[in-house]
Amino acid sequence: MPRYALRLRRFTPETRPDAWWQDVEVELDAHRSVLDAILEARERDGTLAIRFSCRAAICGSCGVRVNGRSGLACHTQLGEAAATASGGVIVVEPLGNMPVLKDLIVDMDPVHWAKVASVQPWLVGADPGRELEYEVAHETMVDVTQAMACIQCGACVSDCLSLEVDPAFVGPAALAKAYRFAADPRDADHEGRLRRLAEDPHGLYDCTHCFACIEACPKGVAPMNQIMRLRRMATTDHAIDDGNNGRRHEHGFVANVRRNGLLHEAELLTDSYGGRLHPRTVPVLLESLTAVSRALRRRKVGLRDALGHPHRGRFPEIARYVDEIEGRPERVELNLYVSGYDDEDPGAVASAPSGEDGANAATGPNPRRRRP
Ligand code: SF4
Ligand code: SF4
Ligand code: FES
Repeated sequence: MPRYALRLRRFTPETRPDAWWQDVEVELDAHRSVLDAILEARERDGTLAIRFSCRAAICGSCGVRVNGRSGLACHTQLGEAAATASGGVIVVEPLGNMPVLKDLIVDMDPVHWAKVASVQPWLVGADPGRELEYEVAHETMVDVTQAMACIQCGACVSDCLSLEVDPAFVGPAALAKAYRFAADPRDADHEGRLRRLAEDPHGLYDCTHCFACIEACPKGVAPMNQIMRLRRMATTDHAIDDGNNGRRHEHGFVANVRRNGLLHEAELLTDSYGGRLHPRTVPVLLESLTAVSRALRRRKVGLRDALGHPHRGRFPEIARYVDEIEGRPERVELNLYVSGYDDEDPGAVASAPSGEDGANAATGPNPRRRRP
């Protein structure tokens, strides 16, 4: 049987003030999990603490970092972990961005659960007195099944780069949860939800599209994609002109690409604030002068690129594409995630991921009507 070396990050405030490392070796089959190895180590040292329950990637309790990547200890095989281990030692640490309580257990209350609670994670019924159940068309729920697969493990929160910089950021898991309700056809508070998240300086527009949450998520929730869907709903469907300039930035971005064929970053700031001469733009331009001169000095951008239009006229078809897409009466959200059943194709049966309510749904487009 193969032997595996593990280095466990320990924090035992009852005996030592600082965190420390413990090296252990276990003999287990390669297909056994990192959680199995940790539990084997705990048999020898009962002071080692880890949170777990289902051992089957369902309960979301055993989130840890293995070799620097956040995920579920019970869903990471020892053989896979050893393959990415530097020097052959599998390093196991508690999740990031959350305070460590003991060893591999973090306090998820302030950074995770408080934020999930802040996005009103329940349906607001249009008619609270209604006695009959709501009837919902199968395809209208396709959009939200991906977010429903979340098991609240915190892996995405642990790896979120924006949260590292701004601990007040609502964060990927809570925003995915927000989308689950904002896109549910039974909810009566779509616009209120979107407006609160758009106006929050730590909300919708605080995500930097780094993709880390997509890579970390063991259930395929792709939180960043849900955040982008929330933004499209806020900007395109509800035309929410937020104080964070998010909607104008999105429009400025599209106008910039349409005009230049490719993104011309030097004009993005002025485009986002309404043009060079707009009163909103002037203070922002003045504020950014230091950053611009620093970028020029460090040759991150050249004067020719900053002042000229390097791509203009080279890709005339881009404007046509943009006009065609913008001119469509409906915006189509493609959900390529759901692996549910298809009534007409029994061969395509596959189980949907376990989640909040274990829902299955067919993959497909979900048209959203544009505002007139
Ligand atoms: S894509 Fe956004 S939410 Fe996801 S980890 Fe990056 S900054 Fe955080
Ligand atoms: S979105 Fe994924 S990584 Fe984040 S809490 Fe939910 S299941 Fe875990
Ligand atoms: S123990 Fe339940 S998800 Fe790992």
